Amino acid sequence: MERSISASTGGGPIAAPQRLAIAVIGLGSIGGVVAACLRGADLHDVVACVRRPFERLTLERPEGTITVSLSTLTDPNKATPVDWVLLCTKAHETPSAASWLKRLCGPSTRVAVLQNGIDHVARVSPLVAGATVIPTIVYYNGERLAIDRVRLRHVAEDDMLVPDDAAGHAFAEIFRETPLRVSASADFKTLLWRKLLINVIANPITALTRQRQSVLRRDDVHALCLAVLDEAVAVARADGASLDRDEATQILSTLLTFPSEAGTSMYFDCLAGRPLEIEALTGAIVAAGEQKGIATPLNRTLLTLLSAISDAAKTA
Ligand SMILES: NC(=O)c1ccc[n+]([C@@H]2O[C@H](COP(=O)([O-])OP(=O)(O)OC[C@H]3O[C@@H](n4cnc5c(N)ncnc54)[C@H](OP(=O)(O)O)[C@@H]3O)[C@@H](O)[C@H]2O)c1
Repeated sequence: MERSISASTGGGPIAAPQRLAIAVIGLGSIGGVVAACLRGADLHDVVACVRRPFERLTLERPEGTITVSLSTLTDPNKATPVDWVLLCTKAHETPSAASWLKRLCGPSTRVAVLQNGIDHVARVSPLVAGATVIPTIVYYNGERLAIDRVRLRHVAEDDMLVPDDAAGHAFAEIFRETPLRVSASADFKTLLWRKLLINVIANPITALTRQRQSVLRRDDVHALCLAVLDEAVAVARADGASLDRDEATQILSTLLTFPSEAGTSMYFDCLAGRPLEIEALTGAIVAAGEQKGIATPLNRTLLTLLSAISDAAKTA
């Protein structure tokens, strides 16, 4: 747990930054990058909670490639409470991390959820025995190149965004002296919805068509995307997001700036026959629509088709 190291000087004791205990659950594309960045800065003690052990992790980043040593645990029963848990599994894998969360969380633990979607707190709170849950928006692009090698690409001004509150600021602080830029936003909800709006187009359409983002440039697909987005934007507004009048068009224009040969994680999961992160994305739109009394027939159709694909992958 938190330890305070203080240095004594002639002018009295000066508190040195606390060295915190941080556990990262899931060392994939996102978790691998945060674990390597934190180890690189070496301001805190990091343990990686993984299914397959490895001792060193290489991070390719614009600032140069680094290799760091890493403490890993594969048995949740060997875990003890920490100051911070960074949950970096896919959203649908959250229940499988329950045994880790149970052992790692004490009353003062903070759990940051580095996942897509809008329901981070509702998804994770039941698993953390009263620990504080902090939602994040992850903007950086992480790519797992091998079990012990990841690549970081900065794709926006901020690499991560958190709510503008004490827990959000504390999260940003743990990334001090790392290459990851973390900011806090007072309008976190709007930005969370904006990220979701991008994901609920790019992911389902590329996964269902089994085509990379070039498919979004077809006129008929473009029209479908706008209609799907119009539904989602109506739900987002009803939920309190402050979106622009032409938000759907803006989102689609942003998507068309992405390289046409880029895939999406749902596209790659679909091709690999893995379960899909569909409930946390399109499922969130449909569920929020139901709650607000807004019909979302197109999103519901996408959810049905992709849930069928995902469920078949689970039983394969
Ligand atoms: N990749 C990106 O650029 C990006 C950008 C923004 C947001 N996101 C979001 O970030 C989240 C994480 O995505 P990702 O791309 O990092 O996924 P990923 O590459 O599939 O990594 C997930 C990792 O979680 C591990 N895992 C799953 N269940 C586990 C368990 N019970 N115990 C221990 N480890 C477990 C997996 O381990 P195995 O290796 O053993 O399967 C895998 O290494 C998702 O919500 C995604 O949508 C990703």
